[in-house]
Amino acid sequence: MKRKQCQTPGSPGAETVNMKERGHYMLKGKTVLLGVSGSIAAYKTAYLASSLKKLNADVHVLMTENATNFINPITFETLTGNKCLVDTFDRNFEFSVEHVSLAKKADVVMLAPASANVIGKIAHGIADDMLTTTIMACRCRKIIAPAMNTNMFENPIVQDNLKTLERYGYEIITPATGYLACGDTGAGKMPEPELLLEYILREIACEKDMEGLKVLVTAGPTQEPVDPVRFITNHSTGRMGYAIAKVCMRRGAEVTLVSGPTAVQKPEFVNYIPVTTAREMFEEVTSRAREQDIIIKAAAVADYRPKDVSSEKVKKKDGELFLEMERTDDILAYLGSHRCPGQFLCGFSMETENVLENSREKLKKKNLDMIAANSLKVQGAGFGGDTNVITIITEDEEVSLELMSKEEAASKLLDQIMSCRKMREE
Ligand code: CTP
Repeated sequence: MKRKQCQTPGSPGAETVNMKERGHYMLKGKTVLLGVSGSIAAYKTAYLASSLKKLNADVHVLMTENATNFINPITFETLTGNKCLVDTFDRNFEFSVEHVSLAKKADVVMLAPASANVIGKIAHGIADDMLTTTIMACRCRKIIAPAMNTNMFENPIVQDNLKTLERYGYEIITPATGYLACGDTGAGKMPEPELLLEYILREIACEKDMEGLKVLVTAGPTQEPVDPVRFITNHSTGRMGYAIAKVCMRRGAEVTLVSGPTAVQKPEFVNYIPVTTAREMFEEVTSRAREQDIIIKAAAVADYRPKDVSSEKVKKKDGELFLEMERTDDILAYLGSHRCPGQFLCGFSMETENVLENSREKLKKKNLDMIAANSLKVQGAGFGGDTNVITIITEDEEVSLELMSKEEAASKLLDQIMSCRKMREE
């Protein structure tokens, strides 16, 4: 059996870069163009520009003249370290065909906020300023976040223009509904910068090596009711499973996330199935299992549930209380014994002692391809927190990862899964 210690290759030297900094290199080498048009929502794009810069992207902001009435170009220049471009014929600028050179460099363009005017211009091929000429010259993915008054947004002309853009391959982000700057309440609000960032990350953060694969991930604890007031659960927060789902999605997979109750923000762009009990998780997972290429079971499923669930609150009495418990289904063992040809099954194993031996036993007993073992007793591993320390076990290999963020651990785990699948195909 091969045993490996795996170091994370952070961008500038794994040894010298701490874990937090490594995450900040996610967009190193990527160029993002942000188009800003005239809408009060332009202030939110400053947060977006700042978040992208923190991930080490090369961010260039292009503004319409109208946008400069809402936010000063200096704000973007300070945040991005790049000149903010407004006028096509800016004679102070060193490149006379800047719109073309930027368009060639861009990995993704996001137009946020996109006014009805700019949407109309692009949909009809009008390129009369820096922003519209650059977008017209871009071959990369273009994402549009409309922001305007509800009546404008619902105007059939704007709707037609958005459909035209979709037809040409532009991605349109559905505006949020809420209180608008004009005092109306309705659709037309630009989504928050965190969501806009997710659209960009989905596009450029990862190589799309999982494109075409269907992946089902389970996460979080289950809750087993005792009565209408009480339940039995565990300390799982769902963070590891959510990180796996997110990274799979960014790598291009079609992801279903079956999750027990958690407080973690649901990842975008995944098919999200909330469940409460082990029984519900069993139903939701097994009914979808057949079509999955990969199943990763990071959930901490209850092994026992109260045998009788009282329909009324159990009142306290003198003396002790005994709860009779019965076994839940072992979902992973079921999947292992009803496995579809070619499907890859990965479990998680949480232990407090004999971590590797016990985990290896689960790998065999449940008929798995891989199991990720972690110990509650290792600092930085286990429930909660942003980090984990896992050992990835297969029949003939053990790969021990150092302490890393749950997102990085998810990436490493997926690298191992993809390389095992590849070896199996060869
Ligand atoms: N698992 C499952 N269904 C269960 C219990 C566990 O699918 N009823 C899965 C978990 O999602 C995990 C793996 O089995 O991927 C191992 O879970 P773990 O709790 O570490 O081990 P158990 O198999 O429950 O065994 P034990 O509690 O004795 O360690």
